[in-house]
Amino acid sequence: MGIIKIQDLRKRFDQEFILKGINLEINEREAIGIVGKSGGGKSTLLRCIIGLESVTSGSIETPPKGRMGMVFQNFNLFPHKTALQNVMESLITVDKTPKKAAMEIAMDLLKKVGLEDRADYHPRVLSGGQQQRVAIARALARNPEVLLFDEPTSALDPDMVQEVLNVIEEIRNTQSLTMLIVSHEMKFVNQISDRIVIIEDGLIKGIVKEYLLD
Ligand SMILES: Nc1ncnc2c1ncn2[C@@H]1O[C@H](COP(=O)(O)OP(=O)(O)OP(=O)(O)O)[C@@H](O)[C@H]1O
Ligand SMILES: [Mg+2]
Repeated sequence: MGIIKIQDLRKRFDQEFILKGINLEINEREAIGIVGKSGGGKSTLLRCIIGLESVTSGSIETPPKGRMGMVFQNFNLFPHKTALQNVMESLITVDKTPKKAAMEIAMDLLKKVGLEDRADYHPRVLSGGQQQRVAIARALARNPEVLLFDEPTSALDPDMVQEVLNVIEEIRNTQSLTMLIVSHEMKFVNQISDRIVIIEDGLIKGIVKEYLLD
């Protein structure tokens, strides 16, 4: 069953169309890899889906915004909050979850990403890979139906890439979420994706099961 339906989506910045008519239906629990050259519109597509950008024309049907989470290239953690507070934040401010219950949920999520021993650390004293794992725990806090990843490992030192990919794969294997993942880690994308969408110059150039490297 379609959980996301995108019809003839166009997005213009200034005078230029960046998305030029995207049509895509994503099924519940599908993992969709999104690949393509720089500047093709991959981030813009994710941002339109989660509502960070308005659409110029066409339509996007999704679950309510609050039922979707996003993980960014540069983590975007709150610098003055601890790992635990970062994960608790939306539960407290949006869902009005009582503090003790929010702490328990957040602690469980930190455990899931292997960071229960870093709960009280601030982002500046965490490695990039640890920060990104906190960001993933935070994106999971409100129990989303859809999780969007925009190049989650592109800002990481090479030796931290795998720990983050492992966490994403673990989530894929243990939770029934729909996932959209923009990544240049082709081996990972091939492994995790049910379908891979190739975006070029604002259009879907192809949809494949496996992206063959040349
Ligand atoms: N807020 C904005 N205002 C104007 N132009 C924008 C804006 N956001 C994106 N663009 C332009 O839209 C085009 C597509 O950008 P986008 O970030 O979606 O590409 P991408 O496929 O994610 O690229 P990359 O692989 O480098 O992340 C680029 O030419 C970019 O400069
Ligand atoms: Mg991008």
